[in-house]
Amino acid sequence: MSVKIVEVAPRDGLQNISQIVPTNTKVELIERLAAAGLKTIEATSFVSPRWVPQLADAKQVLQRIQPRTRSNVCLPVLVPNVQGLELAHRSAVDEVAVFVSATEGFSKKNINCTVDESLIRVKKVIEAAKPLGIRVRGYVSCIFCDPYDGPTTPQQVRKVTQFLLDAGCYEVSLGDTLGVGTPTDVQTLYGDLLKFVPKERLAGHFHDTYGQAIANVVKSYDMGIRTFDSSIAGLGGCPFAKGAKGNLATEDLVYTLNKMGVSTGVNLDKLVTTGTWISGQLGLPNGSRAGAALASQ
Ligand code: HMG
Ligand code: MG
Repeated sequence: MSVKIVEVAPRDGLQNISQIVPTNTKVELIERLAAAGLKTIEATSFVSPRWVPQLADAKQVLQRIQPRTRSNVCLPVLVPNVQGLELAHRSAVDEVAVFVSATEGFSKKNINCTVDESLIRVKKVIEAAKPLGIRVRGYVSCIFCDPYDGPTTPQQVRKVTQFLLDAGCYEVSLGDTLGVGTPTDVQTLYGDLLKFVPKERLAGHFHDTYGQAIANVVKSYDMGIRTFDSSIAGLGGCPFAKGAKGNLATEDLVYTLNKMGVSTGVNLDKLVTTGTWISGQLGLPNGSRAGAALASQ
């Protein structure tokens, strides 16, 4: 039994922090995560630097990562449009992630377009990525609730998920951007989606605002999902989703999976050390419950 972890701290974890984190700290974070055994690390994003100033150094981050790490670890980057894809390609990236919201309010605030316009935009990215040999992963945001529109229906999530898969994404990561969902919501959503989409093509991306993220992972795992996104020290939040707290902490995820006898290939001790280190660098409390507990032993 094994689970694939997609570590998202260098992108999702940092994008919401207003004080600019030094490029070398970002690079050291990626190197430490790789040394802990993480094989997929979302490194940064090529989005408009006016929208997300924190990640304006995407090119420099990629340039400074050790060649050995670049060849041994998958380092996808987030892109909102073909312009971002081209920048990623110039940095020799071989996987990008595109993102759409299931809901209109967040779509407008996050990427300044409607859901249907965003689908046209990402289709262009997927089409342009193919001849470049760049793999494309998809994200769907606001799977349970939108900060502006309120609750999301499974039908809204299904529409965009199926579109992304049909357009050529190899996998779609389902984001509870606000971190409001519970295992009951997971049951309802996956109960619907899994009638239409193979479980191998879905991933879980939970935020921990209401402390439900790990329970949602366990529920998703029981329903057959085997890929989960998480963020060291629970870093994260979205600048365009007010009130949303950090992502599921990678330490909490690995702790739980270890106890379930599920292998992840990740060294928990090294993760805990890295979580303590990055929390100190950022001057933030450690958002991982397991990480903080293990660090204090
Ligand atoms: P816009 O202002 O509507 O678009 O932004 P535009 O095409 O008019 O471009 C405006 C300026 O941005 C132009 O520059 C473009 O060149 C530049 P100017 O001529 O004014 O100097 N630009 C770019 N620069 C660098 N890289 C690019 C790029 N594209 C345009 N790729 C746009 C539209 C989509 C660009 C903008 O809204 C944007 O970048 N949004 C990104 C927001 C973001 O990153 N949000 C966080 C990620 S999503 C998330 O966190 C959720 C997720 O984690 C899942 C979950 O947690 O649930 C995925
Ligand atoms: Mg997130």
